Amino acid sequence: MEELKSIQWFPGHMMKTKRKIESQLKLIDAVAVLLDARVPYSSCNPDLRSVINNKPRLVVLNKCDMADPEETKKWIRLFKEKGIAAIALDCKSGKGLNTFIPTVKNVLADKIKAWEAKGMKGKTVKVMVVGIPNVGKSSFINRMSKQNRARVEDRPGVTRGNQWFTIGKGFDLLDTPGVLWPKFNDKLVGEKLAYIGSVKDDILDTEHLAGRLLEYLRDNFPDSVCVRYKLDKEHIAQLEGYDILELVGRKRGMLISGGEINTERAAATVLDEFRGGLLGKITLDKSEECCDVRV
Ligand code: G4P
Repeated sequence: MEELKSIQWFPGHMMKTKRKIESQLKLIDAVAVLLDARVPYSSCNPDLRSVINNKPRLVVLNKCDMADPEETKKWIRLFKEKGIAAIALDCKSGKGLNTFIPTVKNVLADKIKAWEAKGMKGKTVKVMVVGIPNVGKSSFINRMSKQNRARVEDRPGVTRGNQWFTIGKGFDLLDTPGVLWPKFNDKLVGEKLAYIGSVKDDILDTEHLAGRLLEYLRDNFPDSVCVRYKLDKEHIAQLEGYDILELVGRKRGMLISGGEINTERAAATVLDEFRGGLLGKITLDKSEECCDVRV
């Protein structure tokens, strides 16, 4: 997609974030990598592994309310096979949030045992939360904090502006110092992030994007698009995305003067409905196609 080229990764920005994270790594015990359960591969910053180095980590698949539950299970299995603890949760309803603290404790079991052996029973566990924009980082931190009556504080020795949140007795979260932008080298990764709304629409051609999404859904989840927009599978099989978009606009009566179809409105509708989960619980990244989980 042409438009995505203009929002390429900015190396200077990344260097700054990388340095900030590196300087904070010594203060934390583990890293929670937030991913979007609909795109567990595409929503992972490809340089993340080198940024967080060898810190113990766990994956949090957020927005699982919008992903295919079977696919989410497969992804969790895949992460586990790669030796990475993974949990699925949904910050909208709060489902799964209670698995977070026990999972971190499990990941850090040896370390916690070593603390106890040194007489440091109950030492505060500190976890840094990382994730690309829109993955639900703020929602996660807010939810976890509220659930446990949070206290935000400035700590000595920590650069001002860092946000620490107490989420439970002896358990603190650190919001990421800096932003981990996704990388758009892979065109399909960029497109998937645009479909789910992680790339702001105002820098994209939404008609083109909605057309590509309709083609993608037609090829991978034909029932979702055919049922929602009352389209015939065989009819749309050979169509270009833009033609399918026009069909959707026609079916929805989105016409402008002269009987022309308002494809701009149709595009906004398709994108909104997809992002709102009205086309079903859809996971765009398939675990079986993934050879490297990148975390
Ligand atoms: P960020 O800090 O990583 O950038 O993400 P943020 O928490 O701001 O969340 C981005 C959007 O995703 C928000 O919607 C938020 O409500 C939504 N969201 C977060 N977690 C979940 C989840 O588990 N399930 C669902 N369905 N949505 C989730 P928004 O439209 O930008 O704002 P609003 O709807 O909260 O007003």
